[in-house]
Amino acid sequence: MNEETFDFVICSMHTTDKKGLHSGDLFKDRTIDEAYKIYYEELLECVKSFKQFNILGHLDLVKRYTIDKQSENNFHELISEIFKEIIPNGKGIELNTSGVRYGLPNGMPSNDILKLYKELGGEIITLGSDAHRESELAFEFCESLELLDTIGFKYITTFEQQEPSFHLIEELI
Ligand SMILES: [Fe+2]
Repeated sequence: MNEETFDFVICSMHTTDKKGLHSGDLFKDRTIDEAYKIYYEELLECVKSFKQFNILGHLDLVKRYTIDKQSENNFHELISEIFKEIIPNGKGIELNTSGVRYGLPNGMPSNDILKLYKELGGEIITLGSDAHRESELAFEFCESLELLDTIGFKYITTFEQQEPSFHLIEELI
């Protein structure tokens, strides 16, 4: 990958315990809390050992596959560990708006995790619609900018050649 050039690289984990989240196998023979715990533990391990990315994508993707029943634990301790790993390394997070399309009440990560990121000093945040068709491009971007403004983020980030540019949210809403 070092020989390639990309505007930005997203680290998005789609498997846990060698099982695709999409298949539902992660949730077999485990409580929902156990499944979430192992998901976040593996994500923490991933960001500790893999560094070639700019943005951590859809951080709480595990919720998308458990729309019927979410864990009551917010896992903020483990997620804080993830943030303490990526923030000092100049990496950010994505607010992936597709969560709403798939039936979640919000994008990914959820609002409480966005607040946690802000509280821990996170400033680099990108918007992604995860569009699989043209009509989904920039889905809910206006609403998301309003949300980020409400939480206290001043800037939204874009990347070119893996260099961040910061854009004042108040000029976009
Ligand atoms: Fe993804």
